[in-house]
Amino acid sequence: MISRILPVLALALGLGFAAPSFAQIGGPVTGIPGNPAAPNASAEELELQKILQGGRIAGRVTIPDNQSASLVQPAGRDWRAFHNVTLTWVGGIAVLGMLAIIAIFYATKGRIPVEGGRTGHTIQRFNLIERGAHWMTAGSFVVLALTGLNLTFGRWLILPIVGPEAFATLTLWGKYAHNYLSFPFTLGIVVLFLMWVKDNIPNKLDVAWFKAGGGLIGHGHPEAARFNGGQKMVFWITVIGGTLVAVSGYVLIFPFWVTDIAGMQLAHIVHGVISVLMIAAMVGHIYIGSVGMEGAFDAMGSGQVDMNWAKQHHGLWVEDEVKKARETVAPGARAAGAD
Ligand code: HEM
Repeated sequence: MISRILPVLALALGLGFAAPSFAQIGGPVTGIPGNPAAPNASAEELELQKILQGGRIAGRVTIPDNQSASLVQPAGRDWRAFHNVTLTWVGGIAVLGMLAIIAIFYATKGRIPVEGGRTGHTIQRFNLIERGAHWMTAGSFVVLALTGLNLTFGRWLILPIVGPEAFATLTLWGKYAHNYLSFPFTLGIVVLFLMWVKDNIPNKLDVAWFKAGGGLIGHGHPEAARFNGGQKMVFWITVIGGTLVAVSGYVLIFPFWVTDIAGMQLAHIVHGVISVLMIAAMVGHIYIGSVGMEGAFDAMGSGQVDMNWAKQHHGLWVEDEVKKARETVAPGARAAGAD
């Protein structure tokens, strides 16, 4: 506390000594919301109160950019501490924690096999549009994640290895990629939401699925329709997390369009925290969708999954698909019989 007040007092004293020039930088002094100043308070006292309340000291500028008039914004120190310390810890623990969980899971359980082996008969799980939207979202997310992590961890992990010049070039291009790939990512989120929301409404089956540990922990296979409880979680993390990250990101890409410096600092905190949590969640999703489960990748690769895989993980969905196929074929069969 004292360490915060001392510089403020020193600054106030400094401003006091520089009284003639202060009149120039102070500009017209306005009241402070929630703490109206005494009517006879001096300009210096008012400015001091503004600093203590986390406001800013503004000078007067003749160029159109009014932001450049800011001389002191004490909340910036909290924001810097968030970026340099808090975010690094939250991100480090989330991502390394998820990698540790995956390593333990793989070491103890190995790859989840297709029970009864592959049959060679397949069923279509995702069509071309679904896979296209998935890979557009996933591809842009991976680059956004890597270039974003570079902004938080690069100076410690990459700069010492590649040196300042290469790091500056890498980070500059990374920033361009980060800004522009936000657009396909956002579009992907909207399309995934519209295509899959109807199959991702939580229901009783999901509660049972979570109680049975998804069949991953313990024994037995909880029933699941098109998406199981874990996949619904991935869906909502993608949609809600992705929306928050996108909106806060656009606030940052277009500085001062929709909010002031305090709003941008808040947007940055939301962007950073949600992003690292989402990255950790997606590391888990990527593992299960590739190395962790035999036969899963086919769903997003060719779109065709083995019948045994489908029955094992999405039995109710298979029943539905078979019923739909019979209903489609039956009228055709009747027509053929009539010929
Ligand atoms: C880059 C590596 C990735 C791989 C290998 C991968 C793989 C897969 C696979 C195989 C499925 C289908 C699972 C099934 O048949 O039920 C799937 C579904 C899905 N993916 Fe990915 N994915 C990746 C990245 C991402 C990313 C980055 C996101 C979001 C930002 C994402 C969002 C989704 C969603 C919402 C689903 C549907 C729900 C689910 O099945 O979990 N994926 N992914």
